[in-house]
Amino acid sequence: MATLSLRHVQKIYPMRDEDKAEQKKRRKRGEEVAKRSPSNLKITDEGVVAVDDFNLEIADKEFIVIVGPSGCGKSTTMRMIAGLEDITRGEIYLNGRLINDVEPRDRDIAMVFQNYALYPHMTVRQNLEFPLDLRNMPKDEMDRKVEWAAEVLGITPYLNRRPRALSGGQRQRVAIGRAIVRDPQVLLMDEPLSNLDAKLRNQMRAEIIKLRKSLNATFIYVTHDQTEAMTLGDRIVIMRDGDVQQIGTPGMPQMNFFDGQLVKTDAGTYAVRIGEAQIELSDDKQRNLAERGIAPQRVVVGARPEHITLEDKPGSMIEGVIDVTEMMGSSVHLHVSVAGQDCIIIVPRLELGSAGIESGTTVRFTLAPNTVHVFDPDTEQNLECL
Ligand SMILES: Nc1ncnc2c1ncn2[C@@H]1O[C@H](COP(=O)(O)OP(=O)(O)O)[C@@H](O)[C@H]1O
Ligand SMILES: [Mg+2]
Repeated sequence: MATLSLRHVQKIYPMRDEDKAEQKKRRKRGEEVAKRSPSNLKITDEGVVAVDDFNLEIADKEFIVIVGPSGCGKSTTMRMIAGLEDITRGEIYLNGRLINDVEPRDRDIAMVFQNYALYPHMTVRQNLEFPLDLRNMPKDEMDRKVEWAAEVLGITPYLNRRPRALSGGQRQRVAIGRAIVRDPQVLLMDEPLSNLDAKLRNQMRAEIIKLRKSLNATFIYVTHDQTEAMTLGDRIVIMRDGDVQQIGTPGMPQMNFFDGQLVKTDAGTYAVRIGEAQIELSDDKQRNLAERGIAPQRVVVGARPEHITLEDKPGSMIEGVIDVTEMMGSSVHLHVSVAGQDCIIIVPRLELGSAGIESGTTVRFTLAPNTVHVFDPDTEQNLECL
């Protein structure tokens, strides 16, 4: 059980030389010194405001994703929660207890970093044992925990290797293992997948969804990747320039987006083209677009995962490669990579049989003509609703 409250949390870093120079420049230009611009944090006489008045109440076992561009204060927020950074103002409570002055090792909060931060001279087993050893755990209990974490993450075969003998994905699993091995109340992950290639990232993302189910922890996950935020989070906190801009919930299931073209067929009807596939739109959509006099143009085509059908119909199919299949009760979620874009298709389990589809398999699918949405790529407006 772990609830977390952040109340008016602020972090001001003392000014570095380059910040002083910036402040001087602003003064000289007659600008307000505390003013902010899109790429700059607020600078006050106290220093650089990396996080300004962060407020969030996090429920037990919630999965919070913090998303925002580089430099907006995400890592600073995480480090303050972990206790690795002093809080300038505000309070952080864990299960109602004020933890501002509690040492990191006494917080029961674990953190996974982007760069893995494994001990190179230790084996995987020793890396996993390290946080337990720090807490003087008896050997047999330690073995049980290490073996459990290794099993959950599929790294049992590598327990006696050193980190340099592992791939990037395996190393990141070890880093996650080291964080979960002591069953923390709160698990912080700071861009844990950003050093992995796209395919591995998709796979690890699905693993994190699974991991969440086998742990009792409350998760806070930082990313600058929108797709990641949408697929993982119960709630998404959008940060910008040290401020919380918006807190929201992703619409589930999330819509897939494809780059495409709105075209007119020889018969004068509207169709969307995605790659080689051409899908003629339904009658009501024809009418809506015609009424608004929409011209053929570059568009973004939106389709919900449950409105996509796997089939091999000539002419109207889109091709993709399966990255991961997730068995979700009576349905299967296929994570498919389509021309470099991530797409999720939901199909009834009965359709696929018990074997599922192996990753790496090429699949063809089509979109239901009455359920696709056509958006202007620049304004993001639905062309049927202009
Ligand atoms: N130790 C530090 N001293 C001064 N400024 C820092 C320090 N660490 C980070 N910053 C500044 O604080 C801001 C937020 O950094 P960070 O939290 O790392 O952002 P993010 O993780 O979102 O990329 C950045 O402008 C960064 O330059
Ligand atoms: Mg960061």
